[in-house]
Amino acid sequence: MQRNIILIGFMGTGKSTIGRNLSRTFGYPLMDTDQMIEEQQGRQIPEIFATDGEAAFRDIETNVLHSLHKHSGHIIATGGGIIGREENRKLLRELGYVVWLIAKPSEILERTSRNSNRPLLNNDDPEGTIRDLLEIRTPFYRDTAHLGIETDNLSFDEVTAGIIESARYHFGSQE
Ligand code: S3P
Repeated sequence: MQRNIILIGFMGTGKSTIGRNLSRTFGYPLMDTDQMIEEQQGRQIPEIFATDGEAAFRDIETNVLHSLHKHSGHIIATGGGIIGREENRKLLRELGYVVWLIAKPSEILERTSRNSNRPLLNNDDPEGTIRDLLEIRTPFYRDTAHLGIETDNLSFDEVTAGIIESARYHFGSQE
């Protein structure tokens, strides 16, 4: 297993913010699969969904995940749907220590309603979509992660500190 810390979890659970915090505190550079996709494609995610559809986006996402295999010593933030494919779940676990950020649907709705850059939630019933997707995805997050953290009652700093402590323990026990 490589020595990366990988953040998985639903949209709006704080993966990017926690990723930046971890990168600063742990001293590992941050990579973000959504950002890598946008850079590689020269287009924003909503445009990729609108023009090519979700299946094409998922193919690009899997390719990006494969390209991360040469990296070690990184914090890797991922898109919320990356755990949908079995191939991706296997790749994620090979990449390193996988941390699942968990939040209540109401918290997710609050955080994701602040902008409209998530095509899957741009509909008349984002709350219903969040609940439906969570039901499908929760077993996948659970199966993929080494650690799950309920973030609702914790500050970003507390979540970051918890991840650092358990990642050190995890990597230490592998040496
Ligand atoms: C998605 C989550 C998004 C992005 C895309 C699809 C999903 O990433 O990859 O809009 O299927 O949950 P964030 O989790 O960073 O919002």
